[in-house]
Amino acid sequence: MQRMFLALAVAGLALTGAAAIAEDQHDHMQMMSRMQKDARIEVDIPGPMKAMMLSNMRGHQQAIADILTALGKGDGEAAAKIAETRLGMGSPGSAACKPDAKSGELGDMPKMMASHMPDEMRALGMNMHAQASKFAEEAAKVKQGGDLRPALAELGQVVQACNACHAAYRLD
Ligand code: HEC
Repeated sequence: MQRMFLALAVAGLALTGAAAIAEDQHDHMQMMSRMQKDARIEVDIPGPMKAMMLSNMRGHQQAIADILTALGKGDGEAAAKIAETRLGMGSPGSAACKPDAKSGELGDMPKMMASHMPDEMRALGMNMHAQASKFAEEAAKVKQGGDLRPALAELGQVVQACNACHAAYRLD
């Protein structure tokens, strides 16, 4: 009887210890994520423009999904068209990142967006748009049933370009 009590007590202690470790790990993860957030530069963009930018971003994400769906069907031409018109240098969203945007030459909206983004951030945006056009060029060369690998390698670089900006900036 006494031995069983001892065994239960030991098991109880072990469980309490495990819970404490789990809690520590949880705190540690929370702290890490807070530190990561603080390492990014906050860009102060007025509310309505912020909403528009985030909506643009979700559009970018959807474009990547649609490109992958097209590539899954072996349709390089469709993938190229999506990339060029929705992410590439020919996409409306690229205007605010172009060097001429601040002069207003490309329209009022790109001018306003450009005025709220640091130049370094716009340069990262340009990298992404240029890389998307590079992908489009490669994807357009893919014949039905052909090798997708060169196009996929360029697409990987597009997503890397998204990540480079996400690692550096936040809106709040
Ligand atoms: C020039 C900088 C930049 C580039 C390039 C960029 N993003 Fe973003 N993106 C941001 C910022 C800043 C946020 C806000 C992040 C935050 O505040 O935590 C964001 C947020 C997002 C969000 C979240 C939207 C929401 O509703 O909260 C998605 C999804 C996203 N980006 C997708 C992409 C994809 C996909 C690409 C590449 C094709 C991309 N982004 C390229 C800057 C960029």
